[in-house]
Amino acid sequence: MATIKYLSHSAFLLDDGLHRILIDPFISGNPNAPVKVKDISVDYIVLTHAHGDHLGDAIEIAKKCKAMIIAVNELAKYIASFSVKSHNMHIGGSYEFPFGRLKFTIAHHGSSSPDGKYMGEPAGVIITLTGKNIYHAGDTGLFYDMKLIGEMNEIDVFLCPIGDNYTMGIDDAVKAVEFVNPKLAIPIHYNTFPIIQCDPQEFVDKVIATGRNAKVMEFGEALEI
Ligand code: NI
Ligand code: MN
Repeated sequence: MATIKYLSHSAFLLDDGLHRILIDPFISGNPNAPVKVKDISVDYIVLTHAHGDHLGDAIEIAKKCKAMIIAVNELAKYIASFSVKSHNMHIGGSYEFPFGRLKFTIAHHGSSSPDGKYMGEPAGVIITLTGKNIYHAGDTGLFYDMKLIGEMNEIDVFLCPIGDNYTMGIDDAVKAVEFVNPKLAIPIHYNTFPIIQCDPQEFVDKVIATGRNAKVMEFGEALEI
């Protein structure tokens, strides 16, 4: 049994009872964050890309907790320059970590550091925890290869951006759920800023109308999977 806790925007805390894994920890600059950086304690931090609303407080948290950051090569090397432990991977590659397998997927987006440096390709990530497959799409537009991701992996939980402007909007995200065919889809990357304001329940209703399962997670809500 594993727990996934939604920290708002694209940030999640996964916990299998032995390992705590934080994804895209945008906390201190995030008006919806239900936690404080000082209260976070983790073993691993996974980054989908380097934009400020994903890299967030990763370096500070990693230093504080002596956590390892997992990211694509260019971003992982940038992280290493801050004397933080990092594991560099790349898209299509997977690796067996103590908590389980992690694989980076494509994402159609950009990736630059807060000071404007190129940080490699943005990614999505599939994390296997206690036998459950969690697919965090990162920031991305809709792409047809999501169908392949769904065909080759039984996705239990699909964390799917819906906020539009920078990523898929609701209708594209509903199509993405059709492609990925997860047991449960959870909307992410909305309502943090005025430009990504939308109603996550509209996404959920539209997914359910296609015969699939989706749920809005409250900011700070934890779910057992
Ligand atoms: Ni981004
Ligand atoms: Mn973003």
